[in-house]
Amino acid sequence: MISFQKNVFHLATKKTSYIIGVFHGQLLNLYFGKRLKNIPDIGDMLTVSYSRTFSPVDIRADGTEYSTADLTVEYPTFGTADFRSPAFCATYADGTAVTRFEYQGYEISEGKYSLPGLPAVYSEEGDRVSTLKIIMSDEVAGVTAELYYGVFEDYNAITRSVKFINSGENAFDITRAMSLSVDLRRADFDMVTLNGAWARERLPERAPLRIGIQQVASTRGITSHHENPFFALVDGNADETSGEAYGFNLIYSGNFVAGVHKDNYNCARAFIGINPQNFTWRLEKGECFYTPEAVAVYSDSGIGEMSRIFHRLYRERLCKGKFRDIRRPVLINNWEATYFDFNEEKIVEIAKTAAGVGIELMVLDDGWFGKRNSDNCSLGDWVEDPQKLPNGIKGLSQRIKALGMNFGLWVEPEMVSPDSDLNRSHPDWCLHIDGRKSTLGRNQLVLDLTRKDVTDYIKSVFDRLLSDGDISYIKWDMNRSMTEVGSAVGGPAAQGKVYHAYVLGLYDIMDYVTKNYPDVLFEGCSGGGARFDGGILHYFPQIWTSDDTDALERIYIQYGTSMCYPYSTMGAHVSAVPNHQVHRTTPIKMRGDVSICGQLGYELDLNKLDEKDMDSVREQVSAYKRLYDVFHTGDLYRLMVPQGNNAAVNEFLAEDKNTVIICTYVMKGSPNMPYGFVKLRALDADATYEDESGIRYTGEYLMNFGKKLSYNHDYISDITVFKKV
Ligand code: GLA
Repeated sequence: MISFQKNVFHLATKKTSYIIGVFHGQLLNLYFGKRLKNIPDIGDMLTVSYSRTFSPVDIRADGTEYSTADLTVEYPTFGTADFRSPAFCATYADGTAVTRFEYQGYEISEGKYSLPGLPAVYSEEGDRVSTLKIIMSDEVAGVTAELYYGVFEDYNAITRSVKFINSGENAFDITRAMSLSVDLRRADFDMVTLNGAWARERLPERAPLRIGIQQVASTRGITSHHENPFFALVDGNADETSGEAYGFNLIYSGNFVAGVHKDNYNCARAFIGINPQNFTWRLEKGECFYTPEAVAVYSDSGIGEMSRIFHRLYRERLCKGKFRDIRRPVLINNWEATYFDFNEEKIVEIAKTAAGVGIELMVLDDGWFGKRNSDNCSLGDWVEDPQKLPNGIKGLSQRIKALGMNFGLWVEPEMVSPDSDLNRSHPDWCLHIDGRKSTLGRNQLVLDLTRKDVTDYIKSVFDRLLSDGDISYIKWDMNRSMTEVGSAVGGPAAQGKVYHAYVLGLYDIMDYVTKNYPDVLFEGCSGGGARFDGGILHYFPQIWTSDDTDALERIYIQYGTSMCYPYSTMGAHVSAVPNHQVHRTTPIKMRGDVSICGQLGYELDLNKLDEKDMDSVREQVSAYKRLYDVFHTGDLYRLMVPQGNNAAVNEFLAEDKNTVIICTYVMKGSPNMPYGFVKLRALDADATYEDESGIRYTGEYLMNFGKKLSYNHDYISDITVFKKV
């Protein structure tokens, strides 16, 4: 619901209020937090009612003064009285860089605004979603800004984006354009970010805010293994079930910045958007520019609730297409089983055994094309290697289909190897700067997706691969950070656009392939999880979470990822032991119990397992199919988080609340163990729940007495299913 009264906009979800005021032509951010029933007058919501010494002032019509330096500002710009981190900066034709937006008006409409060429959450028929557009302009600079707000009443989420229009006579350069800026009127928060590196992505880090700017960012052209476009601001003592928590996420797959500016007056300005580093977007007269979408959520009951708000919104209104709603297949992928050393027979042998245990999809990973026997050639030449596949993809996929399975394929469409026919015939198709040596990443270059001839070529590769229906699944990989980012087209004025235009080119291709091949399941991947973000999830409902498939490591990685993204989006595979990344040996049961809550897959040669392990695999596959809905549409309660504990426990509560699954993982056992109980959450206290062995408990018992934990040795795991009787 959105209302406008006495110069105050109230954006209300079921549990949240977001309040904006129009104050002498300026737009102020007045409140974001728990839902308010009665909206105070604007005067009562101002941060201060006077201007501080050294704060430059505007004189009101009545002669009194105010300063935006002392107020909470909704969409701050550079160059006037507000000295904190600006949301918008531009350089104008006269060389100056001052912008001052004045309020012009607003429109309220039903449903959700959309963003041309950009991924965004959406509304469906019957959703209680409304849009607010606030129009601001700077007449001197000739720029109009339309601030868009999507209010998802039942999802308790607010989305934001900004459209800039060159409404003047001269071109200008946008140099900073945040998707969201929010001034919170307190700053005694901890900031939580998701950080890491290859094979250890998205591990939460938490620290109290200090005065100044704290931010995470990427300049790698992808969101990266290292940082994620998400952060939370939480009470110092907030935990999974209590305390205030604000979450901010950018639905974007390229360079981003996500941070907070804590000022000297206890205000925390949260901001998130495209990274301004090397971003200069020339806007010609009449042109417009849309920022990517940001999502903001608030919880007054801890970090767990913040995550659940994101999960539900992303599962239901960010992911789209038929695979959003149907059970996705259990797959087997040959990468860790064979690496580059395979042929048709080997793949069929792996598939045969997999089919026998109920696995539904055989995915052929890297190495099937060109002369690719290692990672130093052939990207771009998407034609089968006749040595490995004498009967081509068609011949292989027919044999796989004859086993009752579907067939899937790995591609890395954004890349080109220097040693490839594609590069030899189109040496200027990669991102590069003439006369400057290009740094290689995994021996490869990045195609210039800002060029239409390049994006058309990539679309044609998919048309060729996918049009005859042999391929049911694509693993879309992207294996390097971008360097020497320049384009051979567009001249000097286009160079500051390349990083973002690349991402727009990527979305254009993803949009094309998913619209034209709606029956193909796409999984995102970037050296594991270097591009695990909402932008990818809008097109592809699942992403390979990490190249680290060790069960213990995955507990942490999946936990961190679940801060913002639901388990239904996480590709999770059981691989061989000793594990290829950390050489740890964990039981097959634990590897399965960790993977079953995500999109289950196997990444090993099942022919090498003994009968006992094969029985476990059979059980895992059937449990995955049986429990899919609870894991993938239910609510997640993190009963015990892995960081700081020897164990982790997750509860998944079905949408209808009739089934609850408790997943327990002991990373490190201890002898002569202390008592351990974990209390379940959100059950019906008066109901009776029965576990799979027929033992009955009341909801009250499970939530207060709790479920016993046993820690007496390493690597114990358990999946317990309770059903309401
Ligand atoms: C990346 C992916 C892996 C695998 C290899 C193949 O690293 O994350 O899963 O597909 O590429 O080269």
